[in-house]
Amino acid sequence: MQNLISIRDLEKADIVHYLETATRIESGEIVPDMGDQLAALLFFEPSTRTRFSFETAMKRMGGRTLFMDGTTSTSAKKGESFADTLMTISMYSDIIVIRSAVEGSARYAAETVDIPVINAGDGANQHPTQALLDLYSVRKTQGGLENLTIGLIGDLKFGRTVHSLVQALASFSPRFYFVSPPHLRMPEDICTDLTAHGGQYTEVTDPESIIGELDLMYVTRIQRERFADPEDYERVKDSYVIDSSMLKGVKTNFKVFHPLPRVNEISTDVDGTEYAYYFQQAKNGVVMREAIISILLGDAS
Ligand code: CP
Repeated sequence: MQNLISIRDLEKADIVHYLETATRIESGEIVPDMGDQLAALLFFEPSTRTRFSFETAMKRMGGRTLFMDGTTSTSAKKGESFADTLMTISMYSDIIVIRSAVEGSARYAAETVDIPVINAGDGANQHPTQALLDLYSVRKTQGGLENLTIGLIGDLKFGRTVHSLVQALASFSPRFYFVSPPHLRMPEDICTDLTAHGGQYTEVTDPESIIGELDLMYVTRIQRERFADPEDYERVKDSYVIDSSMLKGVKTNFKVFHPLPRVNEISTDVDGTEYAYYFQQAKNGVVMREAIISILLGDAS
């Protein structure tokens, strides 16, 4: 495991290895030491959780970080190519974490430099570190990953977190309900991939019709930044709002997940209920990112 670019690159055993490593780090069984290692965080799109949890993870392990906030303050502004920028940063650091609106940019970075690259989100394509922390959170709340019934709600077309999550869970015999506006349905290739791996899915439009069957509900924001026409966004932005009145009659193990940021798709009256897990989910991102960095830098034993 030299890079982490796409969940599609991982076997089930690799996923389990990431989860087990995070568990062992959280329990204190292994204590990675990044010594003088340095992670370059290259963020060409905004981020709160991914950026700060990577930074926290690296610093908790004794390492250090460099942060690049877009291209405005670098020589990319003078016309330097993306490849030359990456090459130069790889001379100063031990691992690159990259987020970009351009699909395939993390793969390109991995093919350009000789140090490990982690995809922190590339457009509507992949967000593999989020998927791993999501699985870690699922396992913590459900006691395992096999045979779960999961509702994915919101923007299933542009939401990279749900794409990666479906692929990551596909080998664990999941049963999904996909709940989205008609124009924001789960892409065909991801549905096909899911069934090829033995998973099942049903598309529905009303979350209340299936909520009683769910082990967990994974809610996502409508991705305003991916819409070419702002009016299209306005038409669908409030399609689903989950509030506490909808949670009556859910299963005892039921939890509400959200990768965050939330806009208004989960009412704040859910926050204080026993079902809300999204802030703990964000917290789990730190230990999972410690595991990812330490595996890729060879210090996870
Ligand atoms: N979940 C997630 O990727 O959040 P940020 O965009 O804040 O990093």
